[in-house]
Amino acid sequence: MRLILLGPPGAGKGTQASGIINKYNIPHISTGDIFRKNIKEGTDLGKQAKEYMDKGLLVPDELVVGLVKNRLTENDTENGFLLDGFPRTVAQAEALDTELKNLGWSLDNVINIKVSKDELVERAVGRRICKDCGATYHIKFNPPTIPGKCDVCGGELYQRDDDNEETVTKRIEVYENQTSPLIEYYNKQSVLLNIDGAQNIDKVFDDIVDALGSKK
Ligand code: AP5
Ligand code: ZN
Repeated sequence: MRLILLGPPGAGKGTQASGIINKYNIPHISTGDIFRKNIKEGTDLGKQAKEYMDKGLLVPDELVVGLVKNRLTENDTENGFLLDGFPRTVAQAEALDTELKNLGWSLDNVINIKVSKDELVERAVGRRICKDCGATYHIKFNPPTIPGKCDVCGGELYQRDDDNEETVTKRIEVYENQTSPLIEYYNKQSVLLNIDGAQNIDKVFDDIVDALGSKK
């Protein structure tokens, strides 16, 4: 299955991605995770991306598109893929369409997770992530059993640099201006599935699976 997860910052894309990739046995391609890995490793790409990410701005299209194109042609994508956080501009979506056409592939669905603005800020600011396995928690909505420790691997939890209220608010504004036009873009392609993300995590997942199932 070839899928895109679309939604504003904090909508629950990463949270839902882990269930979706297990169920459909497809790789998770998150451009945000790829940039954070590069920042951690101190690569040139990481250094360039960090300047934008710390301000809540999008990394320029030219730094993102080539990276995704290369990732799509790795040998684990035969069964499909889940793109998370890409595309984020109409130019990225058009570049993806061109690349998929070149590969002789088409998208099955774009899962659009909808959540109100107030809840997005609370979700992002309360998010904590495991530094070892990447599992995501929320101090109020999805707390770990032992505060500060990952339930999966016991690793230490940390807060992302861009998860403070000021940067999150900027990221939401950037989403509204630059990314939300993709809802109409994919609606026109008849691949859009709207999901109510303001429900508990398991219910959101069930709705996604139902929506994907009913399209098959
Ligand atoms: P990226 O890493 O993609 O971040 P994002 O889109 O801002 O999304 P988030 O990771 O913040 O949220 P999410 O929807 O995954 O929510 P989560 O599941 O964690 O991008 C970061 C930056 O990288 C961008 O700002 C940009 O600079 C750059 N970038 C990346 N891709 C790019 C691209 N294509 N082009 C240009 N620049 C790019 O959930 C959030 C919290 O809520 C968690 O704590 C979770 O536990 C909790 N939660 C989840 N679901 C629920 C629920 N149903 N109920 C209650 N709580 C919930
Ligand atoms: Zn962990």
